[in-house]
Amino acid sequence: MHGLVFVTWERFLGEKFGSSLLASYRNAIGETAATAPLANRVYEDQMLLAGVGVASQLTRQPVDTLLRGYGHYFISNAITGHLCSYLLSQIHTAKDLLLTMRAAHAQLRRTPDALKPPLFGYEMVSSTSDELILIYDSYRRLCPLLMGAIEGAAARYGEQAHVIERTCMRHGAATCRFEVRFTPLTNGKGNDQLDTRQQERQQMKRELGDLLLQILPDRDGVTLADLQRILQQRRVPQQYLRPYRLLEGLQQLQYVGLISSTVNQPSDDLIHRRYWKAPTVNDHPLAGRNMPQAERLPPTEYPRQTEPHYVIRPLLNLSQNSPAREGRNQAYATDYRPE
Ligand code: HEM
Repeated sequence: MHGLVFVTWERFLGEKFGSSLLASYRNAIGETAATAPLANRVYEDQMLLAGVGVASQLTRQPVDTLLRGYGHYFISNAITGHLCSYLLSQIHTAKDLLLTMRAAHAQLRRTPDALKPPLFGYEMVSSTSDELILIYDSYRRLCPLLMGAIEGAAARYGEQAHVIERTCMRHGAATCRFEVRFTPLTNGKGNDQLDTRQQERQQMKRELGDLLLQILPDRDGVTLADLQRILQQRRVPQQYLRPYRLLEGLQQLQYVGLISSTVNQPSDDLIHRRYWKAPTVNDHPLAGRNMPQAERLPPTEYPRQTEPHYVIRPLLNLSQNSPAREGRNQAYATDYRPE
């Protein structure tokens, strides 16, 4: 499982139960500064499950209560908000976030890190209503975490979630079926609400992300220094060329599965790290193997859904209609569209 899950899990424990509980937890699982999880690595699922068991003993809270609280935290906390901002900055309601996550999770599966986030199915009650049915089918059976994640999505956008789990895999059903309705909170302020300056900064970061996606190759990869050179040749303004800006832009694309890098290879270091675009369609012969049932259904089995709200905004002074850009815009749309 992705390191972001492990890092935010520990943050959740620290913020909810305090730093001495977190220290006891780290001690109990034998974690040292050298073995602490890193957000850009990948770890065994078993490590998280064992950690949740230990935390349950230390806090005297049931495992499922912890998973639900963590799911809420995972979606609403500032680290996820920052690292996943390329995706989150394009979404403005909890319902849209849920509808986007099938395609966004599918994109994460296309990276070489063997990630397996869940692929949701959806049924729309009506195109205008705030209600939807979300179908969850994951071998991990982390439905309490999903329940919390739906609540966290509502918190992110200043909304309230009303969720009923109608069927559950843990009780023998083939899938978990969640009826979800979002209502605005009166005076509700979501934690994604930004002032004008923050919006401008976010816009600039998105433009940089779009630009990097145009430039990065499909294979072999380029280093940070190569990227700087290419951008200079294209006369991209100096403010976009600063290494920390480029690294942040690359990182934010990597967290949503749009690019890959050598970060998880043994010989990796920052100077030699190479970056390339992840494929955005299931064009690999192995793509789709071992997918859960919801993924294997032909697209027509899914009722038509609202289009994802991915808008490509004006991009510096580069061409608006480059094939790279169109392909990227399609990336998230592909999984939604019935034939
Ligand atoms: C904010 C953008 C999001 C990103 C970048 C993201 C990414 C991820 C990643 C990397 C994993 C771990 C899977 C693995 O490593 O194999 C994961 C798991 C999961 N995600 Fe997301 N996610 C996001 C939003 C959501 C939302 C909005 C929901 C539902 C409301 C959700 C539900 C889940 C669940 C339930 C899991 C647990 C794994 C499982 O059930 O198999 N995620 N997600």
